[in-house]
Amino acid sequence: MTSFRTLDDATDLGGKTALVRVDFNVPMEDGRVTDDTRLRAAAPTIEKLRELGAKVVLIAHFGRPKGERVPAMSLRPVVEPLSRLLGRPVRFAYDCVGQKAEREIADLRRGDVLLLENLRFHKGEEANDPAFAGELARLADVYVNDAFSAAHRAHASTEGVALRLPAYAGESMRRELEALDRALGEPQKPVLGIVGGAKVSTKIDLLKNLVGKLDQLAIGGGMANTFLFAQGVDIGGSLAEREMGDTAREIIEAARVAGCELLLPLDVVVARELSPDAEAGVRALDRIGAEDKILDAGPETVERLKRAMDLSKTLIWNGPLGVFEVPPFDKGTVEAARHAAKLAKAGKLVAVAGGGDTVAALNHAGVVEDFTFVSTAGGAFLEWMEGKTLPGVAALSA
Ligand code: 3PG
Ligand code: MG
Repeated sequence: MTSFRTLDDATDLGGKTALVRVDFNVPMEDGRVTDDTRLRAAAPTIEKLRELGAKVVLIAHFGRPKGERVPAMSLRPVVEPLSRLLGRPVRFAYDCVGQKAEREIADLRRGDVLLLENLRFHKGEEANDPAFAGELARLADVYVNDAFSAAHRAHASTEGVALRLPAYAGESMRRELEALDRALGEPQKPVLGIVGGAKVSTKIDLLKNLVGKLDQLAIGGGMANTFLFAQGVDIGGSLAEREMGDTAREIIEAARVAGCELLLPLDVVVARELSPDAEAGVRALDRIGAEDKILDAGPETVERLKRAMDLSKTLIWNGPLGVFEVPPFDKGTVEAARHAAKLAKAGKLVAVAGGGDTVAALNHAGVVEDFTFVSTAGGAFLEWMEGKTLPGVAALSA
């Protein structure tokens, strides 16, 4: 793993102003935060900086206002839930640079916490404009990035400013990088991957990178239909990217060359339509009817996956095995997730998962707590699985 500076390397922060990039791009409805996972993720870094006597200035984006001051995309609604969480008042400045920000910062005492308005109200943020990065850097003595989930963006607040101030990884960023390294950087072997979700087309780079690193890779979800189709299986009325057949065959060949065993479905759960009342049936691959839609992995497939987990030391998981949002088509995902969680809890498997849908699926299975690590990142987790260097992480390297 490329090494990076953490808060343990920071000395003498007493009385200093720390500019802390957090990801407060949280679910919000009618101006209320409906899920505070990302607020809770930032708390350890804020607490640690307060203990060190720093003045904590939080910077974040919300939504995609594209450089316009869009009132509905203000970060102001975050102040109350964050204050409650930290058990102390959090101040707010209605701009993230310039006089409004500077005045609030000048008023801060050691241990105070201030949140600045949405970075993306300024065009310079997404453009990674040097002048805007300079304005941000002027506000503080040191920079801390605790937003792994935004680290795939080369923006002023994730990259530009990191190059202008002494820069450190926050606690949440550090935990995330360490967990990801345990899963794909220097994992205990054998390593098993599960990649699911709807489309091959959005995960080509990811699949190509993974087959070079894993001992086994199980393919699930809608994208498995494309792989079955590419191998000549009649998938009936199932969703698939039939035009991606060549790509699927390329990935199968790349896996063969790299010695990565691909685990494609052995059997499937089908229904005539995607609805909770639909009559679901199990089909062998040569028994899929013209009107059948594949909606989940079959019991034999799930059994084989569980046995593969038993024989693995590390599991990296992205994407559900079926349409878990519509029971009973959640069964394969839930059963596999519970088995992985049981092994992880017993210390037999390092189980790491990430990606928006995946977190929702693991929550649905009630196993998030028992996994070794579940990343809250979406795009950043995928780009990391693709083997890409994340600009926000690179900028922290020691
Ligand atoms: C996220 O919510 O995934 C991150 O905050 C990144 O947001 P973005 O996709 O708008 O850059
Ligand atoms: Mg996103």
